[in-house]
Amino acid sequence: MYSKEAQRILFERSKELLKTSPAEPLDFNLASERVWELSNIIRYHEWRYYVQNDPVISDFEYDQLYKQLEAIETQYPDLITPDSPTQRVSPDLTENVEQVVHLTPMLSLDNSYDAEDLLDFDTSVKKLCSLPPDAEVEYAVEPKFDGGTIVLIYENDRLTRAATRGNGELGDEITANIRTLRSIPLTAGFSKYGMAKVELRGEALIRKDIFEKINARRMAAGEVLFANPRNAATGGLRMKDPREAASRGLEAFVYQLGYAVDEAGNNVLDRFKTHHETVRILGEQGFKIPGPLYPDGTAESNAGVCRNIAEVIDLCNSWQSQRDDYPYEIDGMVVKVNSLDLQEKCGSTTHHPRWAIAFKFKARQATTRLRDVEFQVGKTGAVTPVAKLEPVQLAGVTVQNVSLHNEDFIKNKDIRIGDHVLVERAGDVIPYIVKALDELRDGSEQPVVYPTHCPVCQSLLVKPEGEAIWRCENAECEAQVLQRMIFHTSKHAMDIEGMGESTILRFYKLGWLHSIADIYRLDYEQIAQLEGFGQKSADNLEKAVGKAKQNPIYRLLHSLSIHHLGQKSSKLLAAVIGHVLELKDWDLERYQEIKDIGPVLAQNVYNFFQNEHNVELLQTMEQLGVNLSQTEADRKPASATEGPLLGKTILFTGTLSTLTREQAEAKAAAAGASISSGVSKNLNILVAGEKAGSKLKKAQALGTVAIWTEEEFTELVGA
Ligand code: IVH
Repeated sequence: MYSKEAQRILFERSKELLKTSPAEPLDFNLASERVWELSNIIRYHEWRYYVQNDPVISDFEYDQLYKQLEAIETQYPDLITPDSPTQRVSPDLTENVEQVVHLTPMLSLDNSYDAEDLLDFDTSVKKLCSLPPDAEVEYAVEPKFDGGTIVLIYENDRLTRAATRGNGELGDEITANIRTLRSIPLTAGFSKYGMAKVELRGEALIRKDIFEKINARRMAAGEVLFANPRNAATGGLRMKDPREAASRGLEAFVYQLGYAVDEAGNNVLDRFKTHHETVRILGEQGFKIPGPLYPDGTAESNAGVCRNIAEVIDLCNSWQSQRDDYPYEIDGMVVKVNSLDLQEKCGSTTHHPRWAIAFKFKARQATTRLRDVEFQVGKTGAVTPVAKLEPVQLAGVTVQNVSLHNEDFIKNKDIRIGDHVLVERAGDVIPYIVKALDELRDGSEQPVVYPTHCPVCQSLLVKPEGEAIWRCENAECEAQVLQRMIFHTSKHAMDIEGMGESTILRFYKLGWLHSIADIYRLDYEQIAQLEGFGQKSADNLEKAVGKAKQNPIYRLLHSLSIHHLGQKSSKLLAAVIGHVLELKDWDLERYQEIKDIGPVLAQNVYNFFQNEHNVELLQTMEQLGVNLSQTEADRKPASATEGPLLGKTILFTGTLSTLTREQAEAKAAAAGASISSGVSKNLNILVAGEKAGSKLKKAQALGTVAIWTEEEFTELVGA
């Protein structure tokens, strides 16, 4: 449809137009030319987005172009043509799929980006409803789910058809796949409300943690990874085999009752007063709806309803700052006039309803250029390609180094040096290269050449059979030694505060660190003399190292950088030994007797403890005061299957008076709880000790977390 050359020109011209000011008025001739040009550009981006499912600019940039066109057309209404992108809902259609007509057109949403935009929206709503400027309009505010839109039809209480949004008028029929979603009831009691036929809108999506698992599984199977939960979800909706769709773990929220008629075909939507009321009814019929539910499945009476625009702004901002804690990927909030009466008064354009607006969070996708690829050697010798990007802003963070994982990743995506690449940073997920924009190549791009030798110690690299990663096998390789030290002191391992990557590097360059044992014989008087340190920091560091020496041995085992030995398997191992050095006498079979330790991990740990250097290293560490004997925290089972806290997530904050943090966590785990790493909507209990700070505040603000004192906790689990 578009040649490569045409695409390159359209892309470059888009970027140029984005730099011009939309406010600047144009004379008629220039305006007429610009309308034609913008229409073509927007059509192209719509084709990329809707037909190809493969956009080359961000939503924000697309909106800017759309607004430029709208502004000129407002100034010169004579320039509006029936085929202008502003005059129709849809771009071209995808071929070869069964298409169905929606009962009512599924419009888009207008976008807003800050408080000012929301205030403008509120003003325009009041004008449309002939309300005085100081009137207060009630709004329903919901997450804007970032998945695949679905449209469901129920006739006589049965799900009869499901479709994608498509172009807003026609969608793809996906009933068989939708039926596999357990969050969608196959029958629902609409007839109770006198409704014989209804059309619902919603979104199918994959929870972030399930998405991570799916990708981990694909990584292990050597399959191409999904770029984000949305792609995995929209792809899942279109699977040919419903069983495959079912395996994607899709869930669906419904957020709109768009159409409802009785047996005679009369509209019955006017029996309801508010949007919130209709959504609540859907919740009561067993649908998943935005906003919390009571344990019996009924919706909270006023979830997300704001009395005025000021409350809307507060709610949107607070969601923006907590979006990463939400279990689903969302790209903003949707603000809807709550009264159905007022919605009717506002009406719609051909593009969007005037009674609703999306509040978009800061962009997480951007395009930039790949300058170079460097190869880094990790703590177990894995050589990882790292993309060096032209710095780009993503959700408020500058991104310039992004892992390319392995050789297959680069090959599958055909990433070349000099390419324009689409980068995404979603939530806590590390930045990710979604794809190279190959249509923008000018021929100067260079393929990535994988090294044959370690870039640090020059040993020949090897790739074990069945693995995707090239390794440097020289355990003494400078890069590996350094990375092992950095990992050893990190939060997940020995957790030595004040001994981060830069400090390790500095001490290493000074010749003070050759192996992890050296971390326990640092000269703190010397450290106090270093620029930027001083006595206080040196003392603190000494204290932190002293504290680490007392760590439970599962931390020590984990800190040794044995390939595949993570925190969980370290705990399994720690629970069955009295002293770390017992392991030098273990044979291979003995490891495999431990449930959940597989043959590869068993071999790796066995090899480690057969190596004399490693045993000597541990002996030295013990002489330096590092604990090698089992502690109470080591004895705790990895997870209990019964107990008073079974199924609860718990978090400790502040200083506890009778227990150490480690002991408290061990007790909680033994009582069946899982230990949370932060305050989120999934947290059930927060035990707040003395001087509890931000975590306590956050939990109180959420209002869904039970807040306990230390005494309440010990009473339940025993002192
Ligand atoms: S209401 C008339 N509510 O956002 C439009 N849409 O940009 C009614 N979306 O494709 C839409 N979460 O699928 C609405 N809580 C929510 C939503 C939501 C996500 C999607 C919707 C549509 C897109 C519009």
